[in-house]
Amino acid sequence: MHGNLNILFVSAECVPFAKSGGLGDVTGALPQFLKKKGHNIIIVMPMYSVIDRRLHNIETAVREMHVETGGEVVSCAVLTTSLPGGVQVYFIDYAPFFERPGLYNDSTHTDYEDNPERFIFLSRAALELCRVFGFAPDIVHANDWHTAVLPAYLKRVCLRDPLFASTASVLTVHNLAYQGRYDRRFYDYSGLPQEDFVSHGFECYGAVNFLKGGIIHADMVNTVSRGYADETRTVEGGYGLDHFLREKADRYVGILNGVDYSLWDPAIDTLIPANYSINDLKGKSVCKRVLQEQSGLNGGESAPLIGVVSRLVVQKGFHLLAECIDGIIRDTDARFVILGAGDKNLETFYSDLQTRHPGRVSTTIGYSNELAHMIEAGCDLFLMPSLYEPCGLNQIYSLKYGTLPVVRATGGLNDTVENYNQVTGEGTGFKFHEPDGAAIYNTVLWAVDTYRNRSDHFAGLIHNAMSQHFSWEDSAAEYDEMYHKARLGRVGSGT
Ligand code: ADP
Ligand code: GLC
Repeated sequence: MHGNLNILFVSAECVPFAKSGGLGDVTGALPQFLKKKGHNIIIVMPMYSVIDRRLHNIETAVREMHVETGGEVVSCAVLTTSLPGGVQVYFIDYAPFFERPGLYNDSTHTDYEDNPERFIFLSRAALELCRVFGFAPDIVHANDWHTAVLPAYLKRVCLRDPLFASTASVLTVHNLAYQGRYDRRFYDYSGLPQEDFVSHGFECYGAVNFLKGGIIHADMVNTVSRGYADETRTVEGGYGLDHFLREKADRYVGILNGVDYSLWDPAIDTLIPANYSINDLKGKSVCKRVLQEQSGLNGGESAPLIGVVSRLVVQKGFHLLAECIDGIIRDTDARFVILGAGDKNLETFYSDLQTRHPGRVSTTIGYSNELAHMIEAGCDLFLMPSLYEPCGLNQIYSLKYGTLPVVRATGGLNDTVENYNQVTGEGTGFKFHEPDGAAIYNTVLWAVDTYRNRSDHFAGLIHNAMSQHFSWEDSAAEYDEMYHKARLGRVGSGT
């Protein structure tokens, strides 16, 4: 036990307020488990217009706060509410940046051009809030490229401020492919000194790379599984940053995400038509029937039902599934229920697929937390053919729901799913290695065949899967370790 710390946790997303993917789930859960360990932690995020003030009892915390950004001082407000576990969340309320229909992009999926300015502003406002409250953080925890300027701000801009005199920085990389590479004018906007716009800093082929600068300046860096940490140290998986990650040596670690089982457990899930548990699976059949009915799928109880809940982007491998899904439909009696949004071409493909295979495929383009829970509960198999996956949460949810994951053996998917052994019956899901349609086709057919012809083994796999527990308690203990290592290794800390 290392003692309690003041932690400033800054993120672009947080469940239940605003989420586009797993970053939101992590921000909504990890700080609550760190608080349970005795830490004094606050979350700072933007006040997006999608956030429902009344629903979440959001109140004004600071009527007017002045933040220096882009060479001028702007005035914003700070709103607040608390998470169920008592963690206080502060929302930076600045309409010119955050009153927009989407978090990062508009309805045509085009990123807002001023995203770097928006998140630089968030980062600076988070530090300013510490000053307003007299909150001296022991740790500033940044997440992804959006807030990756924070470690450098601490070293350069807050240098002489006694409030931050003993603050160490941690950066969590949830996805190395999203680096925040922009025209160098956005570096100038950040107000960081020109001496850090160098190749061993924020500069990258003449442009700014915010994630790279964050990795170099942070006292500790982590990503969200050990497998992905290893992959990102290689040229193939490092997206040009492998050298800087290798250079961090033991200051770069992998910590697997946990699951908030108060939200994702079929025994207590309030968004599914019937609850069930490892000892009594009757409710799962009810969930399957209701999902089939509401999705317009035929085939009855015996037809294997395969679920997808995902951002439809290249990372997730759904262009590879597109190569083979007609073959799977032709050669098996499987039904698909697909929920996702993202690339226009993929959205069109999977919408057309439903039209081409009525009763066999149900596609919902969009975002629906309710349907995501229904799919986890009602399906027999859950498909994640990712090209790479830092952690992946849906396969972990699937395990708890007894919905066997079919995954590509990469990153966190490889770390969390144990492949079916057809001799012993051991395992928790089905894995493949090659990133191509043939591998997906073969593995889905293997899983469907097991479902159909080895029902004893299939039931055993469900039992094994539902016994898995990926607790945030364990992960929070590892974050705890990392924080203390960051403090010990702080440049010039003298501790
Ligand atoms: P990533 O963060 O790369 O998108 P993860 O598996 O870590 O992948 O997390 C995705 C999270 O977002 C899960 O909680 C998943 O249920 C949710 N999600 C993704 N797409 C949708 C969608 N279209 N509708 C509802 N939830 C979604
Ligand atoms: C990213 C990754 C995903 C991970 C999530 C939360 O979005 O793509 O694999 O689970 O962050 O850490």
